[in-house]
Amino acid sequence: TTPKLIGISGSLRAGSFSTAILEGLKDALAGKAELNVYRLNDLPFYNQDVDTETPPAAVADFRAAIAAADGVIVASPEYNFSMSGVIKNAIDWASRPYGKGPIRGKPTLVITSSPGSTGGLRAQAPLRETLYAAGGLVVHTPHIAIAGVADKVKDGKLVEQKALDFALGGIDALLNEIRVRKA
Ligand code: FNR
Repeated sequence: TTPKLIGISGSLRAGSFSTAILEGLKDALAGKAELNVYRLNDLPFYNQDVDTETPPAAVADFRAAIAAADGVIVASPEYNFSMSGVIKNAIDWASRPYGKGPIRGKPTLVITSSPGSTGGLRAQAPLRETLYAAGGLVVHTPHIAIAGVADKVKDGKLVEQKALDFALGGIDALLNEIRVRKA
């Protein structure tokens, strides 16, 4: 069966390059895997008071979407040399209930990007560390960082072939990790 992936965008803005990378990859995957591009606009701030057996609907939806996936792609911008607050918040939700968060044991690929020349690389290490803490099985290599992303996106999708191929290489590593886990 075709592997199911969830692609979580770490930016809420309509014209987000992080979201566009996921949308471009969804097309480029061409049947190799299904990619559910997931936007976090409805997810509230983490609050342990409401993280009960019946959490907010948006939280339940997000957790179920991760649980239904064989693997996870996190596409985050770099904000002040780290991941966006939006993605940190989402990983915090995905890390709970304690010891049973849906991201636990899920092969996970990290993608960063920036309109600048560093491709969001400084967000990679903190993002990986947070994902390890949450129990995600982070794909070690490659580190997918897309620089100059503004010039590589058209009509809400990553279209530049070199960047697509680079990111698809990361997805190959992710799919391989999924296969190894299932064997
Ligand atoms: C940024 N940006 C940015 N870029 C970068 O390469 N390194 C950084 O540390 C930061 N820091 C930063 C902080 C804040 C608060 C904002 C709003 C922006 C620029 C950032 O890469 C750019 O806005 C991207 O377009 C954001 O990603 P999306 O929204 O296109 O996915």
